[in-house]
Amino acid sequence: MEVREMGDTGVLLPEVGIGTWKFSGGVEPIQRAISLGATHVDTAEMYGTEDVVGQALKGRRDQVFLATKVSGSHLRYDEVMSAADGSLARLGVDHIDMYIVHWPNSRVPIAETMSAMEDLVEQGKVRYIGVSNFSVRELKEAQGAMTKHRIVSNQVLYNLRERRIERDLIPYCKETGVTVVAYTPLDSGALSDKPLIRGRQGVRALESVAGEVGKTKAQVALNWCLSRENVITIPKANRVEHVEENCGASGWMLSSEQVRILDEAFG
Ligand SMILES: NC(=O)c1ccc[n+]([C@@H]2O[C@H](COP(=O)([O-])OP(=O)(O)OC[C@H]3O[C@@H](n4cnc5c(N)ncnc54)[C@H](OP(=O)(O)O)[C@@H]3O)[C@@H](O)[C@H]2O)c1
Repeated sequence: MEVREMGDTGVLLPEVGIGTWKFSGGVEPIQRAISLGATHVDTAEMYGTEDVVGQALKGRRDQVFLATKVSGSHLRYDEVMSAADGSLARLGVDHIDMYIVHWPNSRVPIAETMSAMEDLVEQGKVRYIGVSNFSVRELKEAQGAMTKHRIVSNQVLYNLRERRIERDLIPYCKETGVTVVAYTPLDSGALSDKPLIRGRQGVRALESVAGEVGKTKAQVALNWCLSRENVITIPKANRVEHVEENCGASGWMLSSEQVRILDEAFG
């Protein structure tokens, strides 16, 4: 598994991690992911999967970069502090590696939320602060509200079919040392060997590139995300075979011509 530096922290994260939204696969897929180097495990207070993640991490906590999220409906100072305690208890850990604001909430001043996030770092409950679903404007506001620590990641929707962040968010994140964590990188499984419903031109290109490189469509779809230098991925998989396949998306690179073909076919 290849790794990339998270922001400019010196912390190295795997190109492929594991997401757990709607996850119901038990501990095995998570443990297999960890053994294959997909040690960035993503959950959230609202997923209802912190318990199973905690169980999967037993005896492996030090191998894992654990990310969880406070819901956008809990962004008042006291709410953030108690949400973090709830996550720590459900996960059964003494610290969270990356605590993420799940989505922005314009009804709560971002400075109030970020002050709680920074205090959690000061208290040793959290190592790094991230955000999710933040636009460039929202990210700038959040960055401007930080007084002691930095925002190191923005977890956002990104896959061959959902490219909106390419215009401004990816370049802005790169400029300011924020890693883009691509969620739904397989378009919920549509960019895999599961039947594809739409985008025939894209499907043909994906199949043809997959044939050329001798990889599966899911592996090509994930590797395409990785063709952007400050992007890493967190596909979710209930099935161990899918975890193994997804981990095989790292360790090689599409050529720039193959990336261009996919860019155009899905553009
Ligand atoms: N921050 C946010 O707002 C936000 C929003 C959405 C998601 N996320 C995070 O991102 C993670 C990933 O996104 P996602 O769960 O929406 O979608 P995804 O990873 O694009 O797709 C998951 C689906 O793809 C299937 N799949 C995975 N690997 C496969 C493979 N190699 N071949 C065929 N099918 C495969 C899975 O099937 P099986 O489960 O049957 O293996 C599952 O149905 C989430 O779990 C969550 O951690 C964050």
